[in-house]
Amino acid sequence: MQAIRLNNPGGLDKLEQVPLDPTPPGPGQIQVAVKASSLNFHDYAVVAGMIPTSDGRIPLSDGAGEVTGVGEGVTEFAVGDRVLSCFFPHWLDGSPAFEKLVGVPGDHADGFAATSVTMAAQGFTRMPQNLDFESAATLSCAGLTAWRALMVETHLKPGDWVLVQGSGGVSVFALQLARMMGCKVIATSSSDEKLERLGALGAHHLINYRSEPRWGERALAITGGRGVDLVVEVGGPGTVPQSVRALAFGGCISMIGVLTGYAGEVPTTELFQKNGAIKGITVGSRRHQLDMIAAVEANDLRPVIDSSYPLAQLADAFRHQESQRHFGKICISV
Ligand SMILES: NC(=O)c1ccc[n+]([C@@H]2O[C@H](COP(=O)([O-])OP(=O)(O)OC[C@H]3O[C@@H](n4cnc5c(N)ncnc54)[C@H](OP(=O)(O)O)[C@@H]3O)[C@@H](O)[C@H]2O)c1
Repeated sequence: MQAIRLNNPGGLDKLEQVPLDPTPPGPGQIQVAVKASSLNFHDYAVVAGMIPTSDGRIPLSDGAGEVTGVGEGVTEFAVGDRVLSCFFPHWLDGSPAFEKLVGVPGDHADGFAATSVTMAAQGFTRMPQNLDFESAATLSCAGLTAWRALMVETHLKPGDWVLVQGSGGVSVFALQLARMMGCKVIATSSSDEKLERLGALGAHHLINYRSEPRWGERALAITGGRGVDLVVEVGGPGTVPQSVRALAFGGCISMIGVLTGYAGEVPTTELFQKNGAIKGITVGSRRHQLDMIAAVEANDLRPVIDSSYPLAQLADAFRHQESQRHFGKICISV
């Protein structure tokens, strides 16, 4: 049994492999042989020390694996079941609330950079039947965030316009889901080569945000001046002004990411004139995850995997993420 532990104060050189004592499952818990995980920007922020942990941490919020032990009172899972972790183990259903958004694996508690974990059964769902462990492990943070932006918090219909920013995990899922529901998609990227790949995934219009910094104007022009119904906002303060410019009357910006920083200016007048909305998103609940899994199976949705690293090379995987050369998800095989 092995794990990768992050030592304080954080930094990619502070990850070390440590032996792990397997813990038998107590009441309400399951023991899971972890088979795969995937990297999110949030995981990078933890290991890079941008989100400090008081006592070091076993990182990674995503985990897919096989149940190896079941504690007293657990009826939903049996030994041998394939399970997928939940980002928020205490947000089972209903609206978000402060007390539900705690206990995030790999941040508030130890996560999935380990060969075995013992955790509350409610912090897992079944895995999609059509996916292997690595593909499934991409879903619980990036996939669910995109799912909630498109399927839960907005009232999109086929034919509506969606704008996705860049080619990271959340954005590629958002593109796939938007196409799955028959929306028209405008995709942006810093790279022409990645734009080609976004086009191959079904994006109808492509904009290089480096060579075209006023990409919001361009999106307006593409839609004949109408604007887009939803912007999946992963950039944050540096991109919001162009997102507001791209927005249709009554459109919505799903506020998700911090890739350009943590606070900034919003063109408020333009936003209210358009009767636009900004809706904050924090991943989703266990209920949302079960709904997403049903859709993944029904549509045989296949997550886009950029690359896969063994657990022992976790620091190299994070270096690859840091370079932003990836397209879609970086996986970890355990
Ligand atoms: N609120 C939530 O619940 C939630 C959940 C998941 C993620 N997030 C946040 O969402 C963001 C994306 O997460 P992720 O895991 O998908 O990250 P990721 O896979 O690391 O995405 C990185 C990609 O984002 C694109 N990018 C970087 N700067 C950009 C900019 N100024 N404009 C447009 N695209 C830009 C780049 O794509 P190109 O190379 O194609 O340009 C880059 O490769 C992060 O800030 C993360 O913290 C929030």
